[in-house]
Amino acid sequence: MPIATRRRVAVLISGRGSNLRALLEAKQDDYEIALVISNRPGAGGIEIARAAGVETLTIDHKSYGKNREAFERAMDAALRERNIEIVALAGFMRVLTPYFVRAWEGKLINIHPSLLPKYPGVDTHARALAAGDVMHGCTVHLVVEEVDAGEFLGQARLAILPGDTPETLAARVLELEHSLYPPCLVRLAFSLR
Ligand code: GAR
Repeated sequence: MPIATRRRVAVLISGRGSNLRALLEAKQDDYEIALVISNRPGAGGIEIARAAGVETLTIDHKSYGKNREAFERAMDAALRERNIEIVALAGFMRVLTPYFVRAWEGKLINIHPSLLPKYPGVDTHARALAAGDVMHGCTVHLVVEEVDAGEFLGQARLAILPGDTPETLAARVLELEHSLYPPCLVRLAFSLR
């Protein structure tokens, strides 16, 4: 695909940004990461984006108090100003309101560290271990109003090993996330052509 038709992607983060790094390091033939927004000042992923020459913004949700929609309107305005076409959540730890989800319907994706529909929400690794699961993994999905629901763009799985802890499992799943997310973003970018 010619460079000019690459989809302009914004990545939303809250923390260290290892999935952002994976998206940046993948071959960006079909998408271009044009903006990274963090809702937390000092998020590690901001430095990763800067080092890659990508524009960054910090939009601190705390500045908006309890007004979640005002926070999201500020993000939405920044995204529209830059002609962003796809929004990829990568460790973005805020639940989005129906306003934002509807505004970006079909163009808003998330990576979640479990084999959805198992374990939406937090503490996915500990929950998989506590349930005695033998398989675990991660899912990339379209974002809908219900948390961690929405059509799957891809899923990757691994075996839970004897002696696994939430930490060892998290580390292995994270590696899997890094290989799952880029092709899923490509798939969405391609489907929007
Ligand atoms: C990843 O494991 C991601 O799946 C998870 O946060 C981590 C972010 O790591 N996301 C969620 O739990 C969202 N519900 P990263 O900042 O290194 O990409």
